[in-house]
Amino acid sequence: MARVLLENVCKYFDDVVAVKDVNLEIKDKEFVVMVGPSGCGKTTTLRMIAGLEEISSGKIQIGDQLINDVAPKDRNIAMVFQSYALYPHMKVYDNMAFGLKLSGIPKKEIDQRVREAGDILELANLLDRYPKQLSGGQRQRVALGRAIVRNPKVFLMDEPLSNLDAKLRVQMRAELQRLHKKLEATIIYVTHDQTEAMTLGQRIAVILNGELQQVEAPLNVYDRPANRFVAGFIGSPPMNFVRGTIAKSPAGVYSFECDGFKFDVPADLGQLLAAHVGKPVVFGLRPEDIWDVPSSGWIEQKTIVESKVDFRELMGSETYVYAKVGSVSLTGRVGAMADPQPGSNFGLVFNLRKIHFFDPETQKAII
Ligand SMILES: Nc1ncnc2c1ncn2[C@@H]1O[C@H](COP(=O)(O)OP(=O)(O)OP(=O)(O)O)[C@@H](O)[C@H]1O
Ligand SMILES: [Mg+2]
Repeated sequence: MARVLLENVCKYFDDVVAVKDVNLEIKDKEFVVMVGPSGCGKTTTLRMIAGLEEISSGKIQIGDQLINDVAPKDRNIAMVFQSYALYPHMKVYDNMAFGLKLSGIPKKEIDQRVREAGDILELANLLDRYPKQLSGGQRQRVALGRAIVRNPKVFLMDEPLSNLDAKLRVQMRAELQRLHKKLEATIIYVTHDQTEAMTLGQRIAVILNGELQQVEAPLNVYDRPANRFVAGFIGSPPMNFVRGTIAKSPAGVYSFECDGFKFDVPADLGQLLAAHVGKPVVFGLRPEDIWDVPSSGWIEQKTIVESKVDFRELMGSETYVYAKVGSVSLTGRVGAMADPQPGSNFGLVFNLRKIHFFDPETQKAII
């Protein structure tokens, strides 16, 4: 049993609050990704789980054991860091075997574990090489291998792919998922890259300023962000946010109005805005939910907003249009065939099933 339980965990460095009252249960064999901007407390959290950093208050359990006072080496955890930190003067084999030798494990067993890890990570042909004779991705795999041979219950990974180029990162992402299945281990993975979080995690934990914002399956976080920060952090290009107000007509129709456009909210969603009539709200819509007129025929509940094109980015498979409506800037992700010319008028089609609203005071999602 290797679930990891954090209960009211806090970490202060003098007057800096690095981790603030975190409650999180990572289930046995689960792959959880912690994601958040630089300085939000991700590494500090991992280091507390690993025992490399003292906990200021709260409890951490691994399995059923309280580990607050258990030495790092007795926690059955392996941590993989961003820098591979391989020993340059040791071959791949010895890099992987070194920690096991120090723990006094018999030579024969070390050999078996290193070769097994080598097979899993497709390093079998490289065991005789020195780190400098390897590519970045291969070095990263050796660093993973060093963790795997220890046969830990829990892997902690701190941005292990951030030194790799974009293509290798995609490849390693796939390998990590394969590895997770094969090892049947609990993995806690830290990144500030929202794409990595979306693609790797069974659940993602979004952190801001040391506080958990939302912990859910990636698509739930994407479709139903708990607050404005999560909505803006997950997704690229980021969600559009527009300040405005909610009104209700005598006939009971709710509408959103801002300095640029106005639209009626679908009846079922409008109900949820009842407490906000006459009050400021923040409207949110992801770029992919803004379409060009020709490709929007299938959308049942929509509104068309006339805009003026600022500029556009032709991505090949799609086009990003950056447009202005009054003083409001909007980004749409439109079909590759739409070729919005800068300075021209362009009809932006909002898919009204995908709208979000946030309370500007609490930042919490209303819809
Ligand atoms: N030893 C320390 N002494 C004082 N402050 C620290 C120490 N270690 C971390 N901090 C502070 O704690 C906060 C969280 O740091 P942490 O390294 O956990 O962030 P992070 O989320 O891992 O960021 P990054 O994505 O940049 O790696 C930051 O404000 C940081 O400056
Ligand atoms: Mg960090």
